[in-house]
Amino acid sequence: MMEKIKRIGVLTSGGDAPGMNPAVRAVVRTAMDFGIECIGIRRGWQGLINGDFVRLDGTSVGHILSRGGTILYTARSEEFMTEAGRKKAVATCRMLGLQGIVAIGGDGTFRGALELSRLGIPVVGIPATIDNDVGCTNYTIGFDTACNTAVECIDRLRDTMQSHERCSVVEVMGRNAGFLALYVGIAVGATAVLVPEHELDFQKDVVECIQNSRLAGNTHFMIVVAEGSGSAVDIGKRIHEAIGIEPRVTVLGHIQRGGSPSARDRETATRMGYYAVKAFAEGGGNVIVGTQEGSMVMLPIEEALQMKKHLQMDRYEIMQAMLLGRSSADTLTE
Ligand code: F6P
Repeated sequence: MMEKIKRIGVLTSGGDAPGMNPAVRAVVRTAMDFGIECIGIRRGWQGLINGDFVRLDGTSVGHILSRGGTILYTARSEEFMTEAGRKKAVATCRMLGLQGIVAIGGDGTFRGALELSRLGIPVVGIPATIDNDVGCTNYTIGFDTACNTAVECIDRLRDTMQSHERCSVVEVMGRNAGFLALYVGIAVGATAVLVPEHELDFQKDVVECIQNSRLAGNTHFMIVVAEGSGSAVDIGKRIHEAIGIEPRVTVLGHIQRGGSPSARDRETATRMGYYAVKAFAEGGGNVIVGTQEGSMVMLPIEEALQMKKHLQMDRYEIMQAMLLGRSSADTLTE
């Protein structure tokens, strides 16, 4: 019979995401409920290398449900990419008596988790990134909050664009994926959305959309660009060259990563944190927790890392179907 697990570590790694704190809280409180001690590792994998830890108990994670960012800090560790760095991390686990690690982050975090698990330290991953680009789960913690933040910002932009009858080009995050851009684009009624998953035909995807919208009577235009599909500044210049209007460019940047987590992110983070610890309590490990069609699933890390998630291109079509000026009936006639 497997020895009962007595102590685990929890860390957050990679880009932060609203909802990481509720996930940390859920891990700690669930661990206590199962009679497992929980040690917080600060600054992600680098903290594990450096032995940078903090003792956590039920009260130490009080009042963090509504806080953005991560109380454990986060980092991207070059040293952890090396065998020597990972061996130091294993030494820290042995020194602290950690029988498993809950790692909260994105794909990069989980690639590190896989390497650590190969050195004999079991890891359970919780997906948290505003990009929502982890293949093994429909949803990553932080995505909903980031969408809402971007929508709120763009609604404000729309007010001033409408008053001045201008075109706005707004860049949202998403280095490799257009989930954020497309969801937000639909939610703000964008004139065009540029995502890395769709090869850009500038004339068709941008110029004609603006022209059709103008012919249908619109005098302001909102172009949403995912960071991974090009720079908003360049898109703005190209629009100017092609149509002669002078767009105003806004890069939302890290604003999108901050803020109090939404109800959806708090609730999802709490469920994921619970299932992560339950996996250890039941003698499991080396899995990533995820959601598939509303239910929690756990997949072996290696398998999970090979899974690909595709942007639902029907959403791209839906976004375009909402545009004015696509049908001749919309177009103003004399
Ligand atoms: O959190 C993921 C992400 O938001 C990407 O979309 C973005 O490119 C990246 O983080 C930027 O992170 P940082 O500036 O912290 O390196």
